[in-house]
Amino acid sequence: MNRRIGEQRKTGERKGDRRLDEERRKHQDLKVVAEKGERRTEERRQKKRRVNFVPSYMNSWYQVLWSEELKVGQVKRMFYFGKELVAFRAENGQVSVLDAYCPHLGAHLGHGGFVKGDALVCPFHQWAFNNQGECVDVPYAKNPVSKKAKIHCWPVCEKNGMVFVYHGDGEPKREIPDLPEYHDPMWTKYAKSTYVVRSQTQEMGENIVDRAHFKYVHGTHTVPETSMEITDEGVLHVFQVSQKKALGKIHKAEVEIWCYSPGYSVVRFDFVTDLVLSASTIPIDENFIEQRMSFMASKKVNWLSRTIISKAVIAEINRQFREDLPIWENKIFLPNPVLCDGDGPLIPFRKWYRNFYPSWVLEKGVNTPEEADSKQA
Ligand code: FES
Ligand SMILES: [Fe+2]
Repeated sequence: MNRRIGEQRKTGERKGDRRLDEERRKHQDLKVVAEKGERRTEERRQKKRRVNFVPSYMNSWYQVLWSEELKVGQVKRMFYFGKELVAFRAENGQVSVLDAYCPHLGAHLGHGGFVKGDALVCPFHQWAFNNQGECVDVPYAKNPVSKKAKIHCWPVCEKNGMVFVYHGDGEPKREIPDLPEYHDPMWTKYAKSTYVVRSQTQEMGENIVDRAHFKYVHGTHTVPETSMEITDEGVLHVFQVSQKKALGKIHKAEVEIWCYSPGYSVVRFDFVTDLVLSASTIPIDENFIEQRMSFMASKKVNWLSRTIISKAVIAEINRQFREDLPIWENKIFLPNPVLCDGDGPLIPFRKWYRNFYPSWVLEKGVNTPEEADSKQA
């Protein structure tokens, strides 16, 4: 009897289990449908958001690596500007950046390619390419190979412990400046942060002159005082004084920003201690950018105070960056925004930024890749 009841119970439990499984499956199906729906809505949103977008790839130097990420003889795969790229450091220490695909039969040089002397060797049939992307050796060919065996080579500059490539039409407007603090033993080594953001260089750059948001997004005590000038060399120089409440006291923070180009800015903070931020923005593709931040702190205060203060300030800057994320990732670019007298120098900033627009944007007088495409057609 007990056994039967036990058996019935088992059968009942099994039936119950089946029902539960069915319910679970139904919920699972609903979840999948909901996720698919959300994805579709998000795709539509993104498609719509691209209308009125500013150009994704400005003419600029962009930091693609920290020098220490690429040791002698190392090959690194990269994806920027919507392209597969490959960087290598030859045995003479020189860094080169090439398109990733071999012109012979299309192997990806970042998957098994290796450095031999000063050349990068393809893993497939071992054709070798120099730092200009020219084929310098085919180990099994009797005659010299065609000049067409060349890979697009990107202009490279290595400075301040960083590797930059130039993306743009025409020559770079200016070189990456030497960062005196980087060479000075009285400054710490870089403390680094990296972010990937669904935004574009201009949209994020505008943040520095948008003085009002510092109070309403970042919680400064007042709207900061902001002044902006363009130097004779064409560098955008912003000076900002803000007040921040901490530990019941109001502290004055002075920030000086030097924007050399859309991809590279240097920010100097005078807030309790001296701090330098080297800020690099790199387009990954038309919709995403990578932000690389390298902080250095002055060693003029003792080790303990320096460590505590600089850590706190760096954490605060990173916190502010994260506070901006939901705004950047969901806003649209308005070519003709409605501004008020309390807003910062947004229009002069945009005028300066246009110096770095690709020529197809300026010549065709368009703001979006879609408009350019339709005019090109
Ligand atoms: S594909 Fe590169 S050598 Fe053949
Ligand atoms: Fe901000």
